[in-house]
Amino acid sequence: MRSVSILSFLAPALLSGVSAAPFNNGAACGLPAKVTTYVTESHYTPPPEPPTTSISPPVSTSLPPTATTSISPPESSSTSSFTSIPVSSSTSLPASSSTSTPGPSASCRPTSWTREGHAPSVGKLRAALIFVDFPDMPANTSVSELYSLVETAPAELYKQMSYGKLELELVPLLDKFYRMPAASSSYNYSRALTTEAHLKYINDALTAVGPSVSFAGIDVLYVLPAKYASEISTSTATSADVTALDGTVIGNSVTFGQDLYFSWGYKTVNHETGHTLGLPDLYPYVGGTVPQWVGGFDLMGLIGGQSPDYLAWHKWQLGWVADNQVECIASAGKTTHRLSPIEVAGETTKAIAVPLNGTAYLLAEVRSGLGIDAGACGTGVLLYTANTAVSGGSGPIRVIDSKPNSNGCGNNNGGELNDAPLAVGTSFNTGLGVVVTVTGQEGDDYIIEVEQRI
Ligand SMILES: *[C@@H]1O[C@H](CO)[C@@H](O)[C@H](O)[C@H]1NC(C)=O
Ligand SMILES: *[C@@H]1O[C@H](CO)[C@@H](O)[C@H](O)[C@H]1NC(C)=O
Ligand SMILES: *[C@@H]1O[C@H](CO)[C@@H](O)[C@H](O)[C@H]1NC(C)=O
Ligand SMILES: [Zn+2]
Repeated sequence: MRSVSILSFLAPALLSGVSAAPFNNGAACGLPAKVTTYVTESHYTPPPEPPTTSISPPVSTSLPPTATTSISPPESSSTSSFTSIPVSSSTSLPASSSTSTPGPSASCRPTSWTREGHAPSVGKLRAALIFVDFPDMPANTSVSELYSLVETAPAELYKQMSYGKLELELVPLLDKFYRMPAASSSYNYSRALTTEAHLKYINDALTAVGPSVSFAGIDVLYVLPAKYASEISTSTATSADVTALDGTVIGNSVTFGQDLYFSWGYKTVNHETGHTLGLPDLYPYVGGTVPQWVGGFDLMGLIGGQSPDYLAWHKWQLGWVADNQVECIASAGKTTHRLSPIEVAGETTKAIAVPLNGTAYLLAEVRSGLGIDAGACGTGVLLYTANTAVSGGSGPIRVIDSKPNSNGCGNNNGGELNDAPLAVGTSFNTGLGVVVTVTGQEGDDYIIEVEQRI
């Protein structure tokens, strides 16, 4: 379908108030055509339980440049990490009960969701970091200055977002910037990056590292450029296989750019890694504004949004929210549900899902000011549609604007939709055959009544 050439630099601008820096072009980042596996039919394998919860410090020492060192071997070396996720004995989090007791909503899970080709979303995700510079743009910072930006914050964010189920382990090569063979401008990175050019960039970086480093057990490759290599503009993920010189095939790669250093900061890592987990971009690739579909909800849209936690839909896909935490309303009638905020762990219900047709759903979840959404301006019951047949950049998720023309929260960082959540005492007809009424609040939980007339 889409090539990276269309995907990058999209989202240009569009966000009022952030146009100062030339590289500050929205949440743009691209995925090549191959990254469409999340809309293909496949068999879903429930994620194993229970999750690991402790984030061990990264292996942070530089690898000797000459020795045949391993970036530490995987737990089970010959087994794909996509199918064999290490099971920890530490179980401070409730295990998903979806495997032992099928939840009433199990039939609601989209059959197209698969983990195949994606980085592991539960257990440990091991990401190798390599730092590169260029003949025309030699680094003038230390490697550790750049590493410090991402060393702990993205893993900590994922730990909270996943309720401790995903451990992002960084495995950095800290000994030096590896010199790329070609000028930073030669990759056409900031000029409609093609998949071919992107892969040349990644392969050049792997070649610069050479055969003495083992990438065995690595799920995702991160390539970080010299800080002022302005040609390397916007961070981009790809799920095309690349082969390191030690022979390891790496299934997902992210090349970071100026947006990591100067626009969005470390959350860029969580956005791009979200793609390696199988999540789509929620902002438009062509035209419009970055927050037009999901406001400042879910950092797969606006990375710097007011409520960055992933939507329940995404957490369900990733196995962070279990099937039985999504109450499916597949038949007509009135039902009552108690929803707890998406930002906090627990075995309680996190969303309701109403199937609209073969691929689309209406969802309701509670967005609060708890946890990583402490900066949220709009809280309450958020309604949105999600459609597995719509690809990233084309609006796979659309928040329903319960207060049109409200100017959001008066906060333009996410725009009109930031105040979309419903407050207690409000009733909203979605126009999709479903009326949602927020009847009460108990602690942080909301009670909603859903009238389904489909
Ligand atoms: C590094 O290079 C950038 C871009 O040329 C420049 O703005 C910056 O001042 C340099 N920093 C140092 C420490 O030389
Ligand atoms: C960059 O663009 C130039 C001019 O279109 C082209 O010759 C060159 O092959 C491109 N480089 C890559 C890496 O695709
Ligand atoms: C399914 O429903 C969604 C949401 O209303 C709609 O956008 C989409 O066109 C529908 N798809 C089909 C195949 O009817
Ligand atoms: Zn993206």
